Amino acid sequence: AALVEHTFVVSQMKMHHLCNDTLVTVVNGQLPGPAIEVTEGDSLVVHVINKSPSGLTIHWHGVKQLLNCWADGPGMITQCPIQPNKNFTYRFNVVGQEGTLWWHAHVGFLRATIHGALIIRPRSGPNSYPFPKPDKEIPIVIGEWWDVDLVHLENRVENRIYEDWPLSPTINGMLGDLSNCSGVIEDNYILNVERGKTYLLRIVHAAVHEEYNLKIAGHKFTVVAVDANYVKPYTTDTIVIASGETVDALVVADAPPGRYYMVAQAVQSPEPSPQIPILVSRGIVSYNPSKGSGDDDTPIVAPELPDQHDATPSFYFRGNLTSLLPQPVPLNVDEHILIAIDVGDICLYAGSPNCMVSKLNNISFELPTTTSLLQAHYYNNMSSSVNRLQELPRRPPVVEFGHSPTSKATVVRRVRHNATVEIVFQNPYSSDLISNTNPMHLHGHDFFILGQGLGRYDAVRDAQAYNLVDPPARSTALVPIYGWMAIRFVANNPGVWFLHCHMEKHVSSGMALALVVENGHTLETTLPPPPADYTSCDNQNSRVAD
Ligand code: C2O
Repeated sequence: AALVEHTFVVSQMKMHHLCNDTLVTVVNGQLPGPAIEVTEGDSLVVHVINKSPSGLTIHWHGVKQLLNCWADGPGMITQCPIQPNKNFTYRFNVVGQEGTLWWHAHVGFLRATIHGALIIRPRSGPNSYPFPKPDKEIPIVIGEWWDVDLVHLENRVENRIYEDWPLSPTINGMLGDLSNCSGVIEDNYILNVERGKTYLLRIVHAAVHEEYNLKIAGHKFTVVAVDANYVKPYTTDTIVIASGETVDALVVADAPPGRYYMVAQAVQSPEPSPQIPILVSRGIVSYNPSKGSGDDDTPIVAPELPDQHDATPSFYFRGNLTSLLPQPVPLNVDEHILIAIDVGDICLYAGSPNCMVSKLNNISFELPTTTSLLQAHYYNNMSSSVNRLQELPRRPPVVEFGHSPTSKATVVRRVRHNATVEIVFQNPYSSDLISNTNPMHLHGHDFFILGQGLGRYDAVRDAQAYNLVDPPARSTALVPIYGWMAIRFVANNPGVWFLHCHMEKHVSSGMALALVVENGHTLETTLPPPPADYTSCDNQNSRVAD
């Protein structure tokens, strides 16, 4: 196994889009940031040099970090932010995982511009892919262009102001087709293809909010992996991908030579709302790569797009994914956890006029302010160093959906090492309540997706219909709007692992908790001490420097 070393210089840079110069914080002057490529089993060393004015951390999204929670990266959960003009080195191994993952900043909205792909190839070479060997591999990073200061945006959401929207989705950083002043049109992302060849698209959803439909006119996708876990090849003309998720899909260039739009279209609330902009970005799949300006006159074929307010294609897309290999699903569950996802009201609690928060089991998560949870867990009795620590209430009465009084706390759920944990996420299911599709992401573990459904989860009926044979393994569970999703995993990785909605306005306003996996009884099941250069929180007390 090799040692792969990168240096990430984080700094602010001016970018010009839609007639405006905007100051954005990026890695190595690139947006999206550099793609990291490793072979399974490699060790990664990433030196982060923070030349930006904000404190930040980097999270290796989907990397299991077995016995290495210290390198996971969520701010105030496993470490304090790397302050301006400070450096920090992440060291970890990528073991037992193949496919596409990604990395991103993990302090609020900065991840909108600090992110990139993390590509893990099989140790035995590209001939060992469990699908036809592609001629070329292409990262496709779906992002969003915001023309606002992202630290300011974070503060607005923490103050529960939800009025901000991105100007456009982006495909590999390109806005595509938009113009709003003096007729200047934004460039499209262009994927040049050769007829007859097969392309492996490594798709990363790095945008902070909406789910996206991805479609290429005249072509089909064969999905072969999700969240760096192989699935049975599934052929579809639309990929539906939520914040935090990754999808690997083969595309064969088998259409008549020409130009075809590749469209990323946001799946938006079922109620079309006038203040929400339509978010669509177009790239182009082009045969006969640039033989001169004559090419530009070829008409571009546009795909027929699904209704952007319809969540059904997402539900079926996910329901059609099964693991490539039979899965060793643990059958005896030690911990049943029901998590009600909701937005709530803290007026009664805080006396504030603007009261919306996000919450799990009726508590809105608050990050600790003076220590990271992992540091508190490792060195002190957590409760003595974290102000408002609370254990996740078990089995909430379902009547608490809606705008019931809500409290704020640093919510943890402790489980013993190697416990089999089943979590059922329940969204509000009655039509008089606000419901969303929520991508719930767990750090440090993959889990099996056993089932999903609409309405209220029924422990007897729904558990009987679980897929215990070939459920897909993932690290993000997209809980359907007005429905539920059930996941199961073995908590085999001691440490403190963030579990949260990957929509930034949800996690920033409290849709989160920390899963604390206790140590086992042997050295091999005990979290080792932190690395010597660990960013301890002892001399820090601000989460994001202004
Ligand atoms: Cu990609 Cu905690 O997130």
